[in-house]
Amino acid sequence: MSFPTVRMRRLRKTQALRDMLNPITLNPAHLIYPIFVEENLKTPTPIESMPGYSRLPLSMVVAEAKAALAQGIKGVLLFGIPAKKDETATSAYAPEGIIQQAIRLLKKACGDELVIIGDVCLCEYMSHGHCGIVKDNEIQNDPTIALLAKTAVSYAQAGIDIVAPSAMMDGQITAIREALDEAGYDQIPIIAYAAKYASGFYGPFRDAAESTPKFGNRHSYQMNPGNPQEALREIELDIAEGADMVMIKPALAYLDIITLAKASFNVPVVAYNVSGEYSMVKAAAQNGWIDEQTIIREILISLKRAGADLIITYHAKDVKSWLTQS
Ligand code: PBG
Repeated sequence: MSFPTVRMRRLRKTQALRDMLNPITLNPAHLIYPIFVEENLKTPTPIESMPGYSRLPLSMVVAEAKAALAQGIKGVLLFGIPAKKDETATSAYAPEGIIQQAIRLLKKACGDELVIIGDVCLCEYMSHGHCGIVKDNEIQNDPTIALLAKTAVSYAQAGIDIVAPSAMMDGQITAIREALDEAGYDQIPIIAYAAKYASGFYGPFRDAAESTPKFGNRHSYQMNPGNPQEALREIELDIAEGADMVMIKPALAYLDIITLAKASFNVPVVAYNVSGEYSMVKAAAQNGWIDEQTIIREILISLKRAGADLIITYHAKDVKSWLTQS
């Protein structure tokens, strides 16, 4: 049967019908809100390439997380900018490091109401901006995973709820799982940044976290954008190493990877709607070229439709009316 007996527009006629038939529900509990916290800062510092976003002093982190909680968001993802960077990322695993302090404050203020997630990486803490130990201009895998494990354990000691390793080193999930278990933290889940592509979309984040590599690029550890098979292999290995959830990053240019991951594995899939994706929307909205709320909603729906269970997004707190429109 076809037109004129079939008329697709019949089921799109009213808002009530459209709502009734809407298969995707957006829920703020599925959003994770990233927070940048900078040591030695007294007032928030706007991030120029991420309009509406600031690096926060430690004293403002709790209020920011509570504002997110008030909107129904359950999780925050913490990134730290330390006062001191060096060649061994000492500030990443210092007991009084900026993230460790932020975790303690958040846990005390919000208890189990908030899911505190810590990005486990070294780039923000390294003087050269790479995600691992550098020797002879090469990123050293095995010494790096030992430091990542040390960082994860120090987050756990401070009270983290979930660790999210993002350095793309081989064996990092095994190293972290073993170290956490040995230290008595076998209940702390790991979200693996399993399929993290070497992407131009991270530019604004690197401004925010002052983590642009001082030489070379991240192509020897992050993945080549053209390669979907490698993503599946990375995800498979991370699950075998003990990852509880897997992440695809960036999100919008990698919707196919999200769909593949969801169809191929039985763990929750997280999509990271990264800084460059956020900044493009903000820039166009500021120019009056697009309607920000409509676009944010459409982006989040597309990520859900592709198969994401959870979405990390800088838009999380901007999302206002999307629960009621379709
Ligand atoms: C740390 C890390 C990065 C991002 C998240 N964790 C930067 C990078 O890999 O260069 C990027 C997030 C974003 O762009 O929003 N390695």
